[in-house]
Amino acid sequence: MSARTIGVVMNGVTGRMGHRQHLVRSVLAINSAGGVALAGGGRVLLKPVLVGRNEAKLRELAAAHDIDDWTTDLGAALADPANEIYFDAQVTSARVGAVVQAIEAGKHVYAEKPTAESLEDAITVTKVARAAGVKNGVVQDKLFLPGLRKLRRLVEGGFFGEILSVRGEFGYWVFEGDWQDAQRPSWNYRAADGGGIVLDMFPHWHYVMENLFGTVEAVTARAVTHVPRRWDEAGEPYEATADDAAYGIFELSGGIVAQINSSWATRVFRDELVEFQVDGTEGSAVAGLRRCRVQHRSMTPKPVWNPDLPATEPFRGQWQEVPDNAEFDNGFKVQWEMFIRHVVEDAPFPYDFAAGARGVQLAEAGLLSSAEGRRVELTPIDFGTEA
Ligand SMILES: NC(=O)c1ccc[n+]([C@@H]2O[C@H](COP(=O)([O-])OP(=O)(O)OC[C@H]3O[C@@H](n4cnc5c(N)ncnc54)[C@H](O)[C@@H]3O)[C@@H](O)[C@H]2O)c1
Repeated sequence: MSARTIGVVMNGVTGRMGHRQHLVRSVLAINSAGGVALAGGGRVLLKPVLVGRNEAKLRELAAAHDIDDWTTDLGAALADPANEIYFDAQVTSARVGAVVQAIEAGKHVYAEKPTAESLEDAITVTKVARAAGVKNGVVQDKLFLPGLRKLRRLVEGGFFGEILSVRGEFGYWVFEGDWQDAQRPSWNYRAADGGGIVLDMFPHWHYVMENLFGTVEAVTARAVTHVPRRWDEAGEPYEATADDAAYGIFELSGGIVAQINSSWATRVFRDELVEFQVDGTEGSAVAGLRRCRVQHRSMTPKPVWNPDLPATEPFRGQWQEVPDNAEFDNGFKVQWEMFIRHVVEDAPFPYDFAAGARGVQLAEAGLLSSAEGRRVELTPIDFGTEA
């Protein structure tokens, strides 16, 4: 079968996510595997066109990966009709302007989360995409992680009975940048530059909850800045104005309560950097990025509270590993393949800009809850048009 080639304008590829996950592990990996296989037969290869602000960095990146096309002129890249898709992994604050420019140039658009810094902008960009009739998608990579795919399998297989609650623990220590380099970019810690853990992580938690457990109906959150002073990439000290930890309670449809801690100021005493415990009437599960373990009600021990004696039961040993039963490819790559099929053969793709806006809505509601010290309800977003 023949392979056709689609040009993909990739903006922000010198960054952490754009480079590793989207360029190398998704787009280039798809091409190495022979392209995206279409349901109707045939394959699609991707021709990346790298866009950025820094000519030297782009040239070096393009050379390292044997890529011919790169430019600092976004408009020129968008003007080429061979480039059918625009992808954005820039800093969040730069996203909306570039995405709207791409839509106006008639491109299908795929973007990192969050789709915008504010709900208003996230709604606008959704409306603009819908009005132009272009395909649109937002990265929701966590859904494609092996651990969460196993969790989803358990939900869909009815393992839990009635789901009662979800507890999520996410985080690790992000170094301040003085005596050891920080492992995240400094803009993450400046509110004016689109930073903050709520804006970064609540969109993730939103699509995880929405896709696995139910609609998010209300949030009560406390966002704080635990580490007020950090050092940037140039070794200069700066004031950390954005939240670096958030403690959230989310009320979901069906009466499920989810409680998720997110922190860049905690040290890991877990098996993975994120873990979700789901408790249901019939069983419980603990899922991380890769692993998922379960305990059925028939296998549930009966601990008795007695602080006078050391723990007698090996609690962690009382869980069973959920088998893979499938091959799990890189989650970013899997979602890229879905988006390409969505563009080329109109395959379903539920992770659109409207879903992205719902994630931003939760982030905004979480920040409001924290600022005003109250529970905030989420109402369905009015996009003004049907999907
Ligand atoms: N899906 C995920 O798991 C995940 C994880 C981390 C970050 N992200 C998202 O990806 C996006 C990029 O995050 P990152 O961690 O790769 O950031 P990064 O700082 O490593 O990269 C940012 C990119 O944007 C470019 N850029 C454009 N305008 C800029 C400006 N004014 N200032 C600084 N850089 C500018 C940079 O050149 C660089 O290519 C963010 O929107 C973030 O929310 C997603």
